[in-house]
Parts: sequence; C-alpha cells; structure tokens
Amino acid sequence: MSDNTQIIEKTTRDTTFKATKIPSDSLREKHWENVFQTKDYTQVLWHQNVPSKSLSLIEHYSNQGDSIIDVGCGASFLVDSLISQGYKDITLLDTSKTSLDIVKTRLNANSKLPKYICSDILGLKEIAKYNIWHDRALFHFLLLQKERKKYFEVLSKALISGGIAIINTFSIDSQTQCAGLPIVQYDEERMLEALPSDLTLIKTHAFTHTTPKNTEQNYNSFIIMKK
Ligand SMILES: C[S@@+](CC[C@H](N)C(=O)[O-])C[C@H]1O[C@@H](n2cnc3c(N)ncnc32)[C@H](O)[C@@H]1O
Repeated sequence: MSDNTQIIEKTTRDTTFKATKIPSDSLREKHWENVFQTKDYTQVLWHQNVPSKSLSLIEHYSNQGDSIIDVGCGASFLVDSLISQGYKDITLLDTSKTSLDIVKTRLNANSKLPKYICSDILGLKEIAKYNIWHDRALFHFLLLQKERKKYFEVLSKALISGGIAIINTFSIDSQTQCAGLPIVQYDEERMLEALPSDLTLIKTHAFTHTTPKNTEQNYNSFIIMKK
C-alpha cells in the first residue's frame, strides 16, 4: 500500500513545496485532547450508546476471565458493557487523558476495576499480555507504513499465542476522514497487505454504524489471530 500522505501545497508566493501532514505523537495527543475537552462525547460521529457489535465479537472470542485491552478506547461505553457482562480484567488505553477521566467519572463505583494507560500506542515500550485486543477506529488513523508496523509490533507483543485482535476501521466505501483527520480505509486485501507474518486474518465482518446525527458509516471488523 502506498503512503498517500504527501501533499502538494502552494504558498502565498506561489512557490510549490511538499508538506507531510502527519500528526506527530504530541500533535495527535493535542488533537484528541481538544476533541474530548470541547465536544459532547455522546454527539461525536463515532459514538455508540450500546457498542453491541464489539461486545458480541468480544463475547464470541473470549471468556469472562480473559484479559482485554481496548486501544483508543476514547469515552466508549464498551467498558461499561464489559463490566456488566462480568469481565474483570480490562485495560483501557488512549492518548487523551480527558477521555480516560470521562470514563473514570462515569464508571463511578466501578472506576477502579479497569487499568488505565494514557499513552500513544506507538510510544509504548512495555505492555502486558492479553487474550483480546480491541480497537475501534484507532488503527485507521495510521497513515504511514512505519506507524502500522510499529502498531503491529506492539499488538504482537501484547497478545498471547492464540489471542485475538478485533480491529474496526472504515471500509473502502466509507468516509475518508474521521474526527477531522485523514484515515486509511480498509478491505480484506488492504488489511492482509498490512499484517505481519505472525498475525493471521481469520474473518472479516462488514457493518454499518448509525451516527448520533443519523448518518451512516460503513466499517469492517477484522478478526486477527496471533500465531
Ligand atoms: C474515533 S475515536 C474512537 C473511540 C472509541 N474506540 C469508540 O469507538 O468510541 C479514536 C480514539 O483513538 C484515540 N487515539 C487516536 N490515535 C491514537 C494513538 N496513536 N494512540 C492512542 N490512542 C489514540 C483517540 O484519542 C480517540 O479516543
């Protein structure tokens, strides 16, 4: 897959130069902090009142005693649903501290149950082992091949052998931006191209998400197994 992030821009003096519009880790953090500090998280387009698709896939591939990490969890209600289904070993990771604080406040008496990691996924040096890796709409922001490579290095390190990653991205007939940032759309072929050899794509589910504004976004959910 080519990195289509090199764009040609014109200065006011009409000089053409190349700019690479890639958010660095700190810009990425600033962008997402701004989103969660300034917007009602229940009105952002990716919000779901009930994350039923993710929940049913996690339940299908795991048991209650399994360890689960939700990377790029944002302020998603997935953790609330997992707790109510009896899951106890849950880790939430996001680059935005504000999103994690929203979740902690909302969980109230259950706020001590999940572990929280405030970090860019690409900057993680150490990570524990998990049975399940869940990602809804983080991976598709990684525009550079080296970022996707790093993401899968962290994922491979984190999953036990036989562990499952559930990665949800916009599909190729869906939007090209999410939260004001460019994304990479995925179908099976593109996901297979991106996957390293220690990870096997075992299934793809297509689904449509109805946004809080009543518009539709097409997603693919890739079920990936660590060898
Ligand atoms: C579109 S939102 C999806 C949130 C959540 N998964 C959901 O379904 O509601 C993407 C989330 O990924 C986080 N994120 C984006 N890039 C990240 C990165 N490189 N490392 C960690 N978190 C990241 C953002 O802060 C944001 O919370």
